Amino acid sequence: MASALSPLPPKAVPALVLAASAVVLATVLASQYLGGLQPCVLCLYQRYPYWIAIVLSVLALIAARRGGATRVAGLLMGLAALAFLAGAAVAPWPDSISSSRWRWRASPSAAPSGSSPMPAPETQPAPRPKTTGEGGLPGDLTKRQLIERIIRVDHAGEYGAKRIYEGQLAVLGGSPSAPTLTHMAHQEAQHLAEFERLMVERRVRPTLLQPLWHLAGYALGAATALLGERAAMACTIAVEEVIDQHYRAQTDRLGEDEVPLRDTIDRFRRQEVEHKDMAIAAGGERATGYEVLTQAIKLGSRAAIWLSERL
Ligand SMILES: [Fe+2]
Ligand SMILES: [Fe+2]
Repeated sequence: MASALSPLPPKAVPALVLAASAVVLATVLASQYLGGLQPCVLCLYQRYPYWIAIVLSVLALIAARRGGATRVAGLLMGLAALAFLAGAAVAPWPDSISSSRWRWRASPSAAPSGSSPMPAPETQPAPRPKTTGEGGLPGDLTKRQLIERIIRVDHAGEYGAKRIYEGQLAVLGGSPSAPTLTHMAHQEAQHLAEFERLMVERRVRPTLLQPLWHLAGYALGAATALLGERAAMACTIAVEEVIDQHYRAQTDRLGEDEVPLRDTIDRFRRQEVEHKDMAIAAGGERATGYEVLTQAIKLGSRAAIWLSERL
């Protein structure tokens, strides 16, 4: 392997392997966390060779910088290339394996078909686990970690929603949209109160980013309201679409041992969908620049979810 690649500069191969592996992993992670495509078990295994390739290629680059370590650099370079090729070799497997356990599946949060380079999502929802976190792999979240993430991110989301409506009502409090916005804000306050109660009950800390969502939520609400009542409603449509998908993905992961939490999230999800329907009825889809505005808000909402789950 190394001899076949010897005409290339010493750092070229590990640099290429590093870049290609990073692109592959960035693509699958973006598909998962921003596009809503949930990976199957094999898909998770398929990532390992790329992570290994990244580590080996970095080591190869370090070794290549030291003139006396040419053999080590060559060995690492070869191993890194092999790891990358191994990742590429197992990539087509899911299409040829009939079991749904081995396929990518679209969580209800999947982006519209065609927007992702990943294999076509399945239409059947994943079977609900009997117990929360069942079927996980070594390194997956424990049940406790999963519950912490769910409560933390949902609390952050409901807090952000409360702030969005506060920002919108500060601008549109005297407009014909005020009763609709007030109704939504009232329900968001109830959702937030329930997650605050759950945080105490389950001993979960809030996200470290809460001060950011305090500002960003209000700013988003006020900014869309300043664009007009329809833009304010478009904001609700975009946010609630993301939250609907997000809550569905969560209830799919909760088992029979977490029925009260699952039912709470599902009840809130249905109210979020009602908010979206009310916003559509109020003309949100006719807002100027609707597509650009809602896509930007959806992207930001997914990023906020991803961050709040982890920080
Ligand atoms: Fe809510
Ligand atoms: Fe809502």
